[in-house]
Formats: sequence, structure tokens, C-alpha cells
Amino acid sequence: IFVDWTPESARKEGFPHFMLKEIHEQPRVINDTIAGFGRDYEMGAEMLHSGDTIFVTAAGTSYHASMYFALLTAKLTGRKVIPFISSEYESYIHSASSGDVLLAVSQSGETIDTLMALRAFKALGCKVVSLTNVIGSVISRESDQAVYMKAGPEIGVAATKTFTTQLTALTWLALLIAQRGGRLDAEGIKSTRERIKALPDLVEEVIMKYEGWAKGMSRLIAAKSSAYYLSRGLGLPIALEGALKLKEVAYVHAEGYPAGESKHGPIALVERGFPVVFVSVEKSLEKKLLGNIEEMKARGAFTIGIIPQGSELGARLDEKVVIPSRDEVLLPILEIIPLQLLAYYTAVEKGVDPDKPRNLAKTVTVE
Ligand code: G6P
Repeated sequence: IFVDWTPESARKEGFPHFMLKEIHEQPRVINDTIAGFGRDYEMGAEMLHSGDTIFVTAAGTSYHASMYFALLTAKLTGRKVIPFISSEYESYIHSASSGDVLLAVSQSGETIDTLMALRAFKALGCKVVSLTNVIGSVISRESDQAVYMKAGPEIGVAATKTFTTQLTALTWLALLIAQRGGRLDAEGIKSTRERIKALPDLVEEVIMKYEGWAKGMSRLIAAKSSAYYLSRGLGLPIALEGALKLKEVAYVHAEGYPAGESKHGPIALVERGFPVVFVSVEKSLEKKLLGNIEEMKARGAFTIGIIPQGSELGARLDEKVVIPSRDEVLLPILEIIPLQLLAYYTAVEKGVDPDKPRNLAKTVTVE
């Protein structure tokens, strides 16, 4: 008998790469993560709420999720929340004290930089909450309270479904902290949970609507040597993550930057046809973002926008991806999807393997 598949291709379930399979798994694993919002989340939120300052630490994609958590929690609660890159913990430990609390975010639960940060904060007497995807991982074992997302195993080196499940989990934690701080009542929590439940269907809709778009756009991006991803506020971690995805899997130099800061340097490189991706989440920041779009257009940039339904930015962009929602709690999770697809198809267009980017490892266990 001739069998034209290998165990590996069987595990890809018909998808050409794990990265694409994992992008398509997002509706299901986000649903699983929401279904798993339980006592560990309540206890994690309680511990984070009880600390003086909340520090949040992570590496790579998990850092972008942590940055999002910090921005959202500060906005919802008025609390002091400080995100930092794990390998920089020596600089942050100076201002921490035993009454503070650390949230360590790591998909694998094994990243050495994040583990070292966790140990340093523990040694100071801080309580540590972890968010990981792997039950029994070292970071979850060494934390005082382990919280889990339910993304299932991720094989592609570039994080996709673990990022969106982290964002889902962290949004819920932020809301539970807001509830404890008196900023959200039981009714508010209930209705927000209902809104979050709409996510899996919306993610599915975005994939269906924009996979073809990403494929087409990848031809243009594959021919470029550089791109910028700009945003403001809650969209910034999404811009940073979009740029990281393009850089790591498609080897196109990409920088994520606060849109307002782009005039202090990055704009110097912009000339005719330079691709600039704008990510818009908060309506209150749209006017300012529009100003940044105009600045880039005036230099000849090719502007692409990932924008909410009803956004006025659409008319001023060369290309737009309109996300079928205006809910600022859900938008960041939905807006990364087309950017994951764009990075994936750009890698495919360039003939490189998106599952195994050169020089990168899934889990980094050296400092
Ligand atoms: C590596 C991986 C990244 C990941 C980072 C942090 O660099 O290539 O995809 O985001 O580690 O991993 P963690 O397991 O701690 O989330």
C-alpha cells in the first residue's frame, strides 16, 4: 500500500503548515479558554488586586499580551500596572517591594528570562500569579497562583493561538480586578462575559472575510524590505505583535511604533510605496491617528488600516480591513487575526517555512 502522508502531515489536518492550522483553530481554543474561566481566575484576580503595584513580566509575543493587560487594567481600575520585558528584570526590581505583586505570562511556562524575573520577585517577598498554557510547567509550579489558557499544543514557532487566548484570559483577569476595585458591578461583569462569548464567531468571521485579502496583499508586502505598524493606546500591543509576526516568519524588517512617536525618527525612512499598517482600537484616539495617517500619506506611504466597523479612517486609507465589531474589549483580539494571516502568506509568497523561522526556538531556556 502506498500512503502519501506522514504522521506530521496528518497532524496538520490538511493545512500546509502548523501556523495556518493554528490560526484557524483560534475560534475553538478561544471558546475553550472562555469555558475555562473558573476559580483559578478568581483567585489570580484576588491576588493581583491585593498587591500595591502590579508588575507584569513576559518575553516575545507574551510581552505584547502583557503590555495589553497593563494598559487595559490601568484604564479600567486606575491602578498602577507596570509591564516589563523579563530579561530586563534587574532594572525593575529596584522599585519593587514586598507588598507588590507580579504577573508572569508565558505560553510555555518554561522561558528562562521570565522564570528568573519570577524568582527575583519571589525572593523580595512578592506574591506571583502566572498565566501559562501548560499545566505543571515550571513557571506555573513556582507561582503562588497558576492561571491557565486552553490553547492546546502550539507547534508553529511563531505564537498565534496562544496570543489570542492570552489576550482573552488577560481581558477577563482585568475585568475581575476591576470588579474587586468597585469599578464594575456584578451586572457589568455578567454582561461583559456575554460580550466576550461572541468572540469565537467573530474570529471565524474575520478569518473567512480576510484570508483572501491577506493572500493578495502578501504579494505586495513580500516585495518590500521594510514596513511600519503604527497605533495608539490599546491598539499599540497589536501593532507591535503584527510587526513581530511579519519579521519573524517572513523576514521583512518590520517595526511596531506608537503612531505619535513615528514623527520622531521612523518617518525619515518613508518614501513612495513604503507600507505603513495602522491599527485602530479606541474611538477617542481616531482623530489623532488620522493625523498620523495624513503625515505618512504626504510622504508617499502605502497605508493599510485595520479598523473597527463604522470607523471614519477608512476613506483616507489605501487599503482597509474592517473588523465586524466596535466593541473595544474585543477589537484587539480580532485585529491581530488579519495581521497573522498577512505574515503567514508573506512567508509562503517568499517560499520560506513559516513553521520554522531561522535562528528562532519555540522555547528559549538560555538567558
Ligand atoms: C520564543 C518564541 C516566541 C515566544 C517567546 C516567549 O522567543 O519563539 O514565540 O513568544 O519565546 O515564550 P513564552 O513561552 O514564554 O510565551
